[in-house]
Amino acid sequence: MVHDKIAVVDFGGQYAHLIATKIRRLRVLAEIRQPEDPTELFEQYKGIVLSGSPSLSAFGEDSAYNKSIYDLEAPILGFCFGHQEIAKHYGGEVVHGGREWGAADLHLTRDHPLFAGLSRREPVWMSHFDSVAAVGPDFDELGYTALGAGGEGHRYAAIGSDRHRRYGFQFHPEVDDTVHGEAMLANFIFNICGCTRSWTMEHYLDEQRERLKSQIGDRSVFLLASGGVDSTVAAKLLGLVLGSERLHLLHIDNGLMRKDESRQVLETLSALGLDRHLNFVDASDAFLGALDGVVEPERKRRIIGDTFIEVFEREARRLGASDHLLAQGTIYPDTIETGGTKRADTIKTHHNRVPIVQEMLAAGRVVEPLVDLYKVEVRELGEQLGVPADLIWRHPFPGPGLGVRLLCSTGHEDRDHIDDIEPPLAAVSRQFGVCAQALPIRSVGVKADLRSYEHPVLLSGAFDWNRLQETAGAIYREVPHINRCIWWAGAVRPQHVRPVAATVTRARLDLLREADALVMDGLRRHGLYRDIWQCPTVLVPAACDDRGQELVIIRPIRSERGMTATAAQLPEPLVAELTAGLAALDGISGVAIDLTSKPPGTIEWE
Ligand code: XMP
Repeated sequence: MVHDKIAVVDFGGQYAHLIATKIRRLRVLAEIRQPEDPTELFEQYKGIVLSGSPSLSAFGEDSAYNKSIYDLEAPILGFCFGHQEIAKHYGGEVVHGGREWGAADLHLTRDHPLFAGLSRREPVWMSHFDSVAAVGPDFDELGYTALGAGGEGHRYAAIGSDRHRRYGFQFHPEVDDTVHGEAMLANFIFNICGCTRSWTMEHYLDEQRERLKSQIGDRSVFLLASGGVDSTVAAKLLGLVLGSERLHLLHIDNGLMRKDESRQVLETLSALGLDRHLNFVDASDAFLGALDGVVEPERKRRIIGDTFIEVFEREARRLGASDHLLAQGTIYPDTIETGGTKRADTIKTHHNRVPIVQEMLAAGRVVEPLVDLYKVEVRELGEQLGVPADLIWRHPFPGPGLGVRLLCSTGHEDRDHIDDIEPPLAAVSRQFGVCAQALPIRSVGVKADLRSYEHPVLLSGAFDWNRLQETAGAIYREVPHINRCIWWAGAVRPQHVRPVAATVTRARLDLLREADALVMDGLRRHGLYRDIWQCPTVLVPAACDDRGQELVIIRPIRSERGMTATAAQLPEPLVAELTAGLAALDGISGVAIDLTSKPPGTIEWE
């Protein structure tokens, strides 16, 4: 059957693949294309979408890509960088400045088929440094944004030319936080490009089964099974294609698991009938030994990823399975956030994308049945494959486990940017009437598709969620070098928060395991476990008083795919319970709640 198709040109934005996924969910086949692909390749498509980009600025300099796509008849819609490129190509102007992170309101200036069925004011998601300052002669402004409290806005947040059939959105309709983004994509695909629906998830599954059969041939595979949703669904799918005889599972206890987790994982995998060749190894000594004394987040990630492969190879030799292919439950965000597509920036190196795995991939020794999917699709597939609901709805847990939730420090106060931060931060604090202090530590975040490694701001005062969120929004806009805001959950605000020297140790991991178990238990008792997408508990080696050396951060978030996220508000009684419970643990000097959306923060702190 011939499907109507849309091309998504991947300029390396974090969301290029997400655009294709969202279009496929509308039952129209979308394919990723490279910017330098020849024009003839684009002729088969009924429409073209230009993605955002981390490295290319549409400002001034000429961005290199195949511009003859603009000679084609097919409608073109650009997002973020793509939007700026369209504006520029047709005589508009792009300027540095007008940056926006996170939620904004799009005000429509007139009716247009792209916004059919939507209201005049739509919540949209922004992540950009540059903006369109003027459009060319055939273009109109279709919408502008007005930002939160200050009321200042941006013109040309949506532009279009019906004559050329070219359109641009400064915002990202593909992310879940643009509430009616899917309707906007649907309007483009159906109302403007005239596509008909014909693509389904079953097609995708059939294709994957065929692909796996031809990749694996008559070999066996060895799957690293963490017990999480991804590797379990991958195991079920591989079991279906290979049968149980050729599927070997290895669960590694890396010492970075949750409390009692390895035991539960082995029970679950057995209950799923995946116990024909189920192997277990306690490799915690190897992991903790390799991490000994290491502080820098990316180095920790690399070490964890490399150690997984070392342990895997050792165990494969021991079990006589050295020629087996390595199977991993890698999903799409693992690739994109590691900078795994041509132009994407490395936000953080996922454990299944360290260089050694990249080499094995290049040598054709890795099988990754879920590599095109996002979490929400993996769950859908898992349901189809009969994986029980309680496993499917487990919170995602990162491969490096608690290793990325246990911050380390040399004890040195990181004050390089504090002088630039303090004056604008003081201005925002005055405006919102809150106490705000920048902490002399850093965590990982993502801004305009680029990695950021910047400071958190600690807010204190009443737990007034909307007010705290407004304040946080103003801080990201007005204050440089900040990618997170957290709220102090204790009674007395700390005068000074000071990092203390700490690395990965069993004792700290045990403390984090207790803290994490306490938080998970609280979510379950309050019936919130399913409602909250993920809730990392993070240990930061920082003394807030003289009682202890560790600051605990609770990071409840809502998300669908993990590519974007909003902080989830916990009810006050639960916050009070958790704060009291955590503060009672030995060595804890304070408790804070993370208020940060993604962007500008990432979900994990490292
Ligand atoms: P971030 O922190 O990048 O996380 O916003 C997005 C989602 O990915 C998970 N995550 C990982 N998952 N290996 C994984 O399998 C990793 O190295 C890794 N790092 C982050 C994170 O928990 C969140 O769900």
